[in-house]
Amino acid sequence: MSIAMRDLRWLVLPALLLTLLLVTLGQQARAQDATTGEATPGQEAAFAVPAVDADTWRQIRSGEIDANFRDSRADSTYNLINASGEGWRQIRDRWVSPFGAIAILGMLGVILVFYLVVGRQRLDEPRTGRKLLRWPVLDRALHWSVASLFILLGLTGLMLLYGKALLRPVFGDGAWAGLMTGTKTLHNYLGPLFAIMLLLVLARFLRHNLPRRHDLTWLRQGGGMVGKGHPDAGFANAGEKIWYWLLASVGLVVVISGLVLDFPNFNQARDTMQWANVIHALGALGLTAVALGHIYIGTIGTEGVLEGMTHGYVDESWAKQHHNLWYEEVRGRTDEAPPEETKHDAPSASRPPG
Ligand code: HEM
Repeated sequence: MSIAMRDLRWLVLPALLLTLLLVTLGQQARAQDATTGEATPGQEAAFAVPAVDADTWRQIRSGEIDANFRDSRADSTYNLINASGEGWRQIRDRWVSPFGAIAILGMLGVILVFYLVVGRQRLDEPRTGRKLLRWPVLDRALHWSVASLFILLGLTGLMLLYGKALLRPVFGDGAWAGLMTGTKTLHNYLGPLFAIMLLLVLARFLRHNLPRRHDLTWLRQGGGMVGKGHPDAGFANAGEKIWYWLLASVGLVVVISGLVLDFPNFNQARDTMQWANVIHALGALGLTAVALGHIYIGTIGTEGVLEGMTHGYVDESWAKQHHNLWYEEVRGRTDEAPPEETKHDAPSASRPPG
């Protein structure tokens, strides 16, 4: 008896899997019924609608015939034909999708031309081998969490917007439908996580990004591309501050509109969600374009910057060239106290001059 009971354990897993499969199939069948409008036996009476001609439908759409009904979810009244939904579709197809394509492809083009014409910003002076702590481990963990989530949300968001036109013809209907279901689920679940991580990053990096008078000079000199010498910059330069404040404004708008879409159970009306969708997409596409610029500057665009965000330390030459005021500040601190914030790579390294 006891052996038989133990053997039964091996049946539990397949039984659970089978149940799961059946439940899923059942749900799919029900969803299919709902989308095709096919009546199950006994429901015929509910679907029996008197035949109406095209003119009648036109009158319903224009409101000449009163065919309003109340939405079960929201406290609003809708026409039998949702004309505002068609309006939303047109805004999405005529404005949002082209805006995204122009912003993102345009930015890639600008980066390519900039790279070919100006090239990589190299270090003016050779590396000293003396390293300054720039991004402690908590900052790096926050940065890479928010960056990975942003990239995943960006890719899945782009698939939701352009997938039908670009991926459906390549993968075929079945595979595309599966891909889109996974994409949508991932996008929906990662959104709230991104919201939390973004708030943490904004709170943690705020102290570096308060505006200063020298930021205006930095901008006027195009970060050192116009005029002679490198303009003053503290821990963050004006370009980084603009990126930060874009995340703190547009980023939060994207997050809030995303949450409006993610949680339709707060009685928000359909029109609210349509507007939330347009605002969410425009904001996210704009930020994606700017993020490409940030990624370029943070990798191949500037020599010596990425190691700060990967290992935490930057070379003293880089700090002096790009963030002179911060360099002076750290140097002042390390001159007074034992150099906690400096690390010596090369055995021959000496303390900063001065
Ligand atoms: C592969 C993608 C990315 C790379 C390689 C990258 C690289 C970097 C690097 C090297 C820095 C440090 C710059 C410095 O030391 O001055 C930095 C800073 C920063 N990054 Fe990224 N990043 C990426 C994606 C992102 C994304 C997607 C976001 C936002 C959603 C983001 C937000 C930030 C912020 C807020 C800062 C700090 C700016 C400041 O407040 O001073 N990064 N990034």
